[in-house]
Amino acid sequence: MMAHKRSLTTPIQEHIDRAIGELIASLPDPEQLVPDERRALIARYAAVLEGNFIYWMTAARLAVASDEAKAIIEDNLREEVRDNHPGMLRRFALAAHAAPTDADALAVYRNLENVRLFVADLSAVKIVLMMAFFEGFITRFMPYLADLADRQGSAERQYTDVHGVVDVVHTEGLFRALEAEMLRKPDVVEPTPSLFTGVKVLRTLIENVIHPNRVTSPHVALEATVAEPAAAAA
Ligand SMILES: [Fe+2]
Repeated sequence: MMAHKRSLTTPIQEHIDRAIGELIASLPDPEQLVPDERRALIARYAAVLEGNFIYWMTAARLAVASDEAKAIIEDNLREEVRDNHPGMLRRFALAAHAAPTDADALAVYRNLENVRLFVADLSAVKIVLMMAFFEGFITRFMPYLADLADRQGSAERQYTDVHGVVDVVHTEGLFRALEAEMLRKPDVVEPTPSLFTGVKVLRTLIENVIHPNRVTSPHVALEATVAEPAAAAA
């Protein structure tokens, strides 16, 4: 599905695609959700994305060293800022009567903090990989999010329309950035479990957004191949 095949990052992309597919498959049937569950799912998504996406992408920019990765991530940031993506998401949530409350923020607090602790390490390859996973998930999540908003009586679609398209390009770009960063240290080009530390903490956070009452959940694909995150995540 990516433009360049059999590249250095192909097995990593396959791993990420599988993780995203599992998240999408785990989404509750919107028909089965009561209105407040639909509202809260949108609200938790907004609580995680609105104030953190640009911050985490900025961390990726600060972490990388290759000119190619810097340029790709800066293009991504420029678009986020110039087109006011946080404002777009806020309008989307407001129109669906789903602006995050204190309780919505509290529901994701711990797992959000774990991602922040991971990001603070400024580990280039791991953060870029986490953001590629994030962009890929967002793209595939948009039809579901739009469906929830529709059931909330909202016709506001700018956020979901833009991110259903744009992030396909961004995901491909981030895999090129990942490759550029990995090639700087040829000794670590073999994917190791610790490479997915950021993906794992972010995946746990997204699962928390989707399933607020689930304390722990099985990471079918990732758990088998990825080591426990460092003690800092505790
Ligand atoms: Fe965005």
